[in-house]
Amino acid sequence: MDLRGLVARAFCLSWDISKFGCMMSPVRKMFDGIANRYDFLNHFLSCGQDILWRRTCCREIRRLRPGKRLLDLCGGTGDFAVTYEKFNGVQDVAILGDFSYGMLKGAAGKKTAAVPVQLDAMKMPFADGAFDVILNGFGMRNLPDAEGGLKESARVLSAGGYLQVLEFFSPRNVFNKFFYKVLAPLFIPVLGAFFSKRDAYEYLVNSIIRFLPVKDFVALAERNGFELVHVKPCFFGVAYRVLLRRKSMLAGGDA
Ligand SMILES: C[S@@+](CC[C@H](N)C(=O)[O-])C[C@H]1O[C@@H](n2cnc3c(N)ncnc32)[C@H](O)[C@@H]1O
Repeated sequence: MDLRGLVARAFCLSWDISKFGCMMSPVRKMFDGIANRYDFLNHFLSCGQDILWRRTCCREIRRLRPGKRLLDLCGGTGDFAVTYEKFNGVQDVAILGDFSYGMLKGAAGKKTAAVPVQLDAMKMPFADGAFDVILNGFGMRNLPDAEGGLKESARVLSAGGYLQVLEFFSPRNVFNKFFYKVLAPLFIPVLGAFFSKRDAYEYLVNSIIRFLPVKDFVALAERNGFELVHVKPCFFGVAYRVLLRRKSMLAGGDA
């Protein structure tokens, strides 16, 4: 990373702007509270699968040869940005955006040039069309309104840019219903309590059950500025990769 990047990273991580009374969300507080154990539990609970899923997402985008302005949105501790840069090389612009200061601090020391920016995904401090690729790993489900989040992502993407969503969707097939409604509520909160915070891991399971099924999410994206490239299941549909392309014209008429 060049000196400018180092200075930008140090500057952005020098204070927690939520201390000034903005981003007063219980979800943000929850992620701040589990940030120090987040990476470990993520890999542990998914038996390392999350690492493979992020890699596959980044390889899929590489084949499409997009432009080099990257936003890792709801990027947390930065694993998606790290993986993206590994497979897609140095970017002209790379931003790690999240509203949790604790999660962003978890990216310090990782191999990424992405500059951490504390922001709300529902209202981002970026110009229209500022990015060619947005990654959103396990963040969509946490937004107060998926439709608003999709609209805002479409706004900051350039026409033809890509949004790669890696997410746990509301279970629909028998295997997933059994996994998320019977198994997961038994073991995830218990392991969460042991290693981190029980209520955060209860929230994790509930947020998946309450979220949209993948089919409805795709339909919502198609009504809000995107066309579908593909939907792929990860590990029998425990998670899905939803790759979307930003349409050339948005409903408001801007290119
Ligand atoms: C489950 S973590 C995912 C982190 C990372 N993308 C990954 O792949 O592991 C979800 C992240 O979304 C962030 N988040 C949730 N709602 C947000 C919002 N409205 N604006 C910005 N970040 C948000 C949380 O702070 C958290 O870091």
